[in-house]
Amino acid sequence: MSLSPSYQSIFSSFIKSPVSTPAYIYSNQKLIQNISLFSELTKKHLIQVHYAMKANNNAQILRMVKDAGLSVDVNSLGELTQAMKIGFLPSNLIFAGVGKTDSELELAVKLGLKTIKVESVDELLVLSEITNHLGISANIGLRLNPEIDAKTHPYIATGLATSKFGIDKRDIDQIISILSNFPLLRLTTLDAHIGSQITDLNLFVDVFTFLSNQANFINKKGFSITDLDLGGGFAIEYDGSGQSTLPELDTLFSKIALLNNGAFKISIEPGRAVVANTCAILTRVLYTKTNGDKNFAIVDAAMTDNIRPSLYGSVHPIVKIGQGSVSETLVYDVVGPVCESGDFLGEDVSLSQCKRGDFLAILDSGAYTSAMASNYNMRPLLPEYLEKDGCLIEIRRRQNVNEWLENLEIPYEG
Ligand code: LLP
Repeated sequence: MSLSPSYQSIFSSFIKSPVSTPAYIYSNQKLIQNISLFSELTKKHLIQVHYAMKANNNAQILRMVKDAGLSVDVNSLGELTQAMKIGFLPSNLIFAGVGKTDSELELAVKLGLKTIKVESVDELLVLSEITNHLGISANIGLRLNPEIDAKTHPYIATGLATSKFGIDKRDIDQIISILSNFPLLRLTTLDAHIGSQITDLNLFVDVFTFLSNQANFINKKGFSITDLDLGGGFAIEYDGSGQSTLPELDTLFSKIALLNNGAFKISIEPGRAVVANTCAILTRVLYTKTNGDKNFAIVDAAMTDNIRPSLYGSVHPIVKIGQGSVSETLVYDVVGPVCESGDFLGEDVSLSQCKRGDFLAILDSGAYTSAMASNYNMRPLLPEYLEKDGCLIEIRRRQNVNEWLENLEIPYEG
């Protein structure tokens, strides 16, 4: 593996800083590089980019996305609130999600979001009641289930016939007849998101073809669908090299532009490809031991800070940093302090011999890590830092354990 230079900068800045572990450290330069690639796509191919903030909702990262002229895709009241606090205009926001609550939908309608994605007949009926009650129209996107296999981990494949996501093709006629009866529901967009960590980008051509055929078919019934949203899912290389599918997107969208021939506005919702390869979790070896024939490096980070290895069997490169003389290489399971055998950050990792106090970096930890972190075992959420020009700038504070103690004040009346 040839290590991305942005990781080298993170390590050298960390070693000379007073920052304590465990912590997420992001590379400002790599974030700018990734975000710029997307803003170039916007300019060159007129693609609208809505960053899927579920991948990472750090306020500073969102500001960088906003400053580059991109927008966001939100999935909950929390994400909507955060996006608006950062200054994204409601009229540019997409609200996605298979299970929006009534109050989330009502707020989305009142705010006049760019698109409210609908995923079921039930949800459309609730929206029709809300818009009628409020007397306000809403821009609707239909998330269709295209039955396209994203060829990825089953937990993150979302476009299969049996997935919980999207509208089944058998329901489209009913959806069309509801939309015909409720003029306050303005159908503007068709959408599909087939999954995440997709390496075969030709699948996006299939998604485009599916959506444009459907849109032409529906528009013949008197609708005016103007937008096709191809979702997110662009893969990165989980090898610490900083490589991803991003350089291939120019060719992909040139191909799609030819097929589209200006018929529809095209949008995408990348999450992982924006942030995954921009961040390392810095962690310290607390103890080493050998049980049976296994060597363990017990570190101060845990599955609570990056659940991807234990949830999906994902492999994140782990490297030892700041080491002096090169010593014997051993094979370790890098594990955390949480009381679960599934609490590992890496299995069978080759590292030069570790000892208490050594620092390890868990690479490519920028997407679906801090965003999926938990307080299990009452572990506080980690701080986040931005490495910029050799300095580490705090962009999220370490969570304070005392916050939880407030719940002790709730009177017990049993
Ligand atoms: N749009 C929708 C509707 C989504 O559900 C997602 C991700 C995205 C866009 C962005 O997909 P991306 O470009 O990041 O692949 N926790 C898993 C990934 C879950 C993806 C959830 N949806 C992981 O760590 O691999």
